[in-house]
Amino acid sequence: MNISPLLAILLGFIIVAAAISTISVEGRKHHVKKIKPKHRRHSRNTPTGSPAPAPYPSTHEGVFDILSFGAKGDGVSDDSKAFVGAWKAACEVAGGKVEIPAGKEFMVKAVTLQGPCTGETVLQIEGTLVAPAKIGSWSKSSLFQWLNFKWVRHVTIQGSGILDGRGSNWWNLDTYQTQRSKKYIPPMKPTALRFYASGNVTVRDISIVNSPLCHLKFDDSDGVKVNNITISSPKNSPNTDGIHLQNTRNVEIQHSNIACGDDCISIQTGSSNVHIHHINCGPGHGISIGSLGKDKSVACVSDIIVEDSSIQNTLSGVRIKTWQGGFGVVKNLTFSNIQVKDVEKPIVIDQFYCDKSKCKNQTSAVSISGVKYNNIVGTFTAQPVHIACSNNVPCMDVDLMDIRLRPSGGIRGLQTHQQQQALCWNSYGKTQGPLVPSSIGYCLKKSTSSGGYSPKRLIASSHEKYCPQP
Ligand SMILES: *[C@@H]1O[C@H](CO)[C@@H](O)[C@H](O)[C@H]1NC(C)=O
Ligand SMILES: *[C@@H]1O[C@H](CO)[C@@H](O)[C@H](O)[C@H]1NC(C)=O
Ligand SMILES: *[C@@H]1O[C@H](CO)[C@@H](O)[C@H](O)[C@H]1NC(C)=O
Ligand SMILES: *[C@@H]1O[C@H](CO)[C@@H](O)[C@H](O)[C@H]1NC(C)=O
Repeated sequence: MNISPLLAILLGFIIVAAAISTISVEGRKHHVKKIKPKHRRHSRNTPTGSPAPAPYPSTHEGVFDILSFGAKGDGVSDDSKAFVGAWKAACEVAGGKVEIPAGKEFMVKAVTLQGPCTGETVLQIEGTLVAPAKIGSWSKSSLFQWLNFKWVRHVTIQGSGILDGRGSNWWNLDTYQTQRSKKYIPPMKPTALRFYASGNVTVRDISIVNSPLCHLKFDDSDGVKVNNITISSPKNSPNTDGIHLQNTRNVEIQHSNIACGDDCISIQTGSSNVHIHHINCGPGHGISIGSLGKDKSVACVSDIIVEDSSIQNTLSGVRIKTWQGGFGVVKNLTFSNIQVKDVEKPIVIDQFYCDKSKCKNQTSAVSISGVKYNNIVGTFTAQPVHIACSNNVPCMDVDLMDIRLRPSGGIRGLQTHQQQQALCWNSYGKTQGPLVPSSIGYCLKKSTSSGGYSPKRLIASSHEKYCPQP
């Protein structure tokens, strides 16, 4: 009988096969990039109802289509589980990609997409994600935001798709409130897309529309790139900021269109090294630092550049607003090459910010220094320059260079002579022409380089203790 050679060959095959599989397992451990997702056990993530433990529903390697996780894409069915399932699958492989296909609408409730992931992860949005239509279908514990990315690193959201926050019902709540309606009023409104405690995130190409509150928010994050996105909600939608930064460093926001009911971009405490350019903003409230220092809080904002942008049909152009009674520092900001059109007040520093009819006067203030305005040009409807600094803590080194601001409807369009004038209160700095209106030229007090104003500089520098440098 010649069985034994056959057996030997068979045995040999088995040994080789076993060896190969061991090697490939080792290989997977050491070269994460080579993971073949469909070979991994993950039946728990497959859509329910599949008869056998199916492999990962990955169309091609590392790509996870929300449809293969059981999403309906009819705009009505709840596709939240499928979305989270696809995210988890993509998150577990290096270079994993979640795909939201074009031509379909996926209704997703408030979800958290959590990291850290194995490697880089992409969310490719070509279709539309919509929030629940009814306010009542939001659970009370999920009102902070709709789509929440938490603890992620190296995540990119891209594609020509849309995130639709369906905010219109939320915007009307304020009216219900004043009518003392018996309707259920949630205690807060959700932000559409939020990154929390994340690093190296990119959001590009997508549209974010009609958020109940802020459209895109980054907090406690480091390394943010926003490029070529569109944000859109109506001019009269309350508190619908475009992009909100808080405790976030190393940010670039560029080549984007933002139209909303509040600040196009709002920079809050703890933000530094932020570069904003080629932004088209309006309608809305403009690009704002603050409000800062509310309820005697400490605020630290530094190293901000806003340039090469256009702002139209807004409440302000570039603005810094702080409450009385705050502490901390705002320093080293540059606003340059900004085109404004029909902006109520293009240049604003308001250290008396107050959301009621009257706020108590207080002596402490967030100190403001090193603010350059260079080449701010266009038309305004209420006042060209409004720089109102704290009575006790003056603004230092405010530079106004090449500012040319004309009333939108010509001089006759303005109610009073005062509205045509630049206003500066307790602020020091220098000016350089051309300056229109000419009142900008004698608006600031002159700061002298040789310590001419040392006591007040001392006040400013004493505030630095609240914002330790990293
Ligand atoms: C961002 O990426 C760079 C380069 O890969 C890395 O050095 C840095 O630590 C990352 N930052 C965060 C917060 O992940
Ligand atoms: C900007 O995004 C759109 C999709 O919204 C895309 O078609 C276009 O190519 C992008 N432009 C650039 C320069 O990336
Ligand atoms: C001011 O901010 C810019 C932009 O972030 C930065 O490049 C520059 O070094 C800062 N200047 C100072 C004096 O800190
Ligand atoms: C607060 O200060 C402003 C400016 O100095 C002054 O006009 C105003 O009357 C003060 N308000 C109160 C409530 O003291």
